[in-house]
Amino acid sequence: MAETLQYQSGFGNHFESEAEKGALPLGQNSPQEAPLGLYAEQLSGSSFVALRHENLRSWLYKIRPSVRHSRFKPFASTRIKSRPFNEVDASPDQLRWNPVPIPKEPTDFIDGLVTMAGNGDAASIRGSAVHIYAANTSMTERFFYNADGDFLIVPELGSLRVATELGVLNVSPWEICVIPRGIKFQIGLLDATARGYVCENFGPPFKLPHLGPIGANGLANPRDFLAPVAAYEEKSGDFQLIAKFSGKLWQATTDRSPLDVVAWHGNYYPYKYDLRLFNVINTVSYDHPDPSIFTVITSPSELPGVANVDFVIFPPRWMVAEKTFRPPYYHRNIMSEYMGLIEGVYDAKLEGFVPGGGSLHNSMSAHGPDAQTFNKASQANLVPQRIDNTLAFMFESSLIYTPTKFAVESGLLQSDYMDCWNDLESKYSRPVSTKNA
Ligand SMILES: [Fe+2]
Repeated sequence: MAETLQYQSGFGNHFESEAEKGALPLGQNSPQEAPLGLYAEQLSGSSFVALRHENLRSWLYKIRPSVRHSRFKPFASTRIKSRPFNEVDASPDQLRWNPVPIPKEPTDFIDGLVTMAGNGDAASIRGSAVHIYAANTSMTERFFYNADGDFLIVPELGSLRVATELGVLNVSPWEICVIPRGIKFQIGLLDATARGYVCENFGPPFKLPHLGPIGANGLANPRDFLAPVAAYEEKSGDFQLIAKFSGKLWQATTDRSPLDVVAWHGNYYPYKYDLRLFNVINTVSYDHPDPSIFTVITSPSELPGVANVDFVIFPPRWMVAEKTFRPPYYHRNIMSEYMGLIEGVYDAKLEGFVPGGGSLHNSMSAHGPDAQTFNKASQANLVPQRIDNTLAFMFESSLIYTPTKFAVESGLLQSDYMDCWNDLESKYSRPVSTKNA
């Protein structure tokens, strides 16, 4: 049974929170002696002189400073991959995968993570990786932080209790959470099993997209993002601290839980968002806006308007377009698209793309509705139609995703995916006046 948690609402707001009254110093960040015998520690998520509206930092008031741990040693993992993403060649083929099976042996979130694809390089603050997690055990004696990127967690099966240094988030399917780089966390399972997707963002932190002519409201509204309140544990034991640093996993030991932040203030913190609150905007006349209209959060690149990685959803919505082929049109994009499915059936693929599975359409690789969907939608009676009980999403990057060896060789890759377009025959009817020309 999940405990009832408190949250603070707003995207990028400066919050302050104390789990014990009087734990936050008044009027300064780093007093000569912090209240209640706590240590003051700053966690910076941007360079010190980043522009004010992009400057990210929180002050943590901890029972012990983070420096108390053993020397790090390599932690062998054959499943989590990072730069260089070159185990296999990225191909222009359209790829689709079955879901990663739930493990039979006890497996926690960290052991259950496996990398499907990636691009870029944490060292150059560019790119992202796509991981899947499949777990049946809570993390108990181990904690994790990632120096390489932010974790955007998209649960598909089972609810998670995400205990972080800055407080606890409960996250269920149809919700997401983001754990910015450097923040330590421990993931517990609130159900027997858990599975989902992780976008590890090596690029600039996620932000809300600009709204342009849409105006001040719409898409994901800032007030619907929830940050935790301070919650700490004062716990001794033989704990393992796992770090992802420079593309590799490392392990150290520590004799106290690092989730010992009694109070904090700042704008660098984990947060969650309920995707059911997304304000869907779409055509009310004809044709389609581009799928960027479904962007929830975006990590920008150095080029204006070009995302390092976007998180885009296809949620329940009304389809009302007149005179229009309503499913996604056939397309080739410069951006590369990894898609996943949380529930239901995606409107461009009636079969084969299943919850927990995934697909990858890299830069300029053609894709679109399967033959069955095309034929059905071309003949459909265009009355207002509600697309319901379905939630698909996309990690869309300006860099090509290279699949991992696991993604290609584990048996999950569907060898017959491209057959879904085989029945798209020519329907061309040459005008009579030119037939005998
Ligand atoms: Fe696409």
